[in-house]
Amino acid sequence: MQNRKPALRIFTCMKTRMDGRPSCGAKGASEIIAALREKIENRGLAAAHIDVRPSRCLDRCEDGPVLLGFTGFVAESAVPPNRLDESLLRDPQITFERVSVDQIPAIVDKILGLNS
Ligand code: FES
Repeated sequence: MQNRKPALRIFTCMKTRMDGRPSCGAKGASEIIAALREKIENRGLAAAHIDVRPSRCLDRCEDGPVLLGFTGFVAESAVPPNRLDESLLRDPQITFERVSVDQIPAIVDKILGLNS
């Protein structure tokens, strides 16, 4: 029997505010999501269960850029994150805040370790 890992969905906040308030987009979220996707792709089958998606504001703006990871219903849902019930987004299995590009390799290692 094949031992499949549960799906894991990582939401990356991409919100950019134009009014001066903090936002993940203004703190490099585009570079973060690109680096995250590249690192996960490089891990091949070991990370094939991980899906990285851009998202709306995840209500942690002061601590951005923010990554939230979910298994279960949220990971399996075809519903875009901007339509998910707010309460589902308040209880992530994985949270990374104030993320920088140079942290991405360690973050992917940690995710794979937590999810193995
Ligand atoms: S702008 Fe990213 S959490 Fe709000």
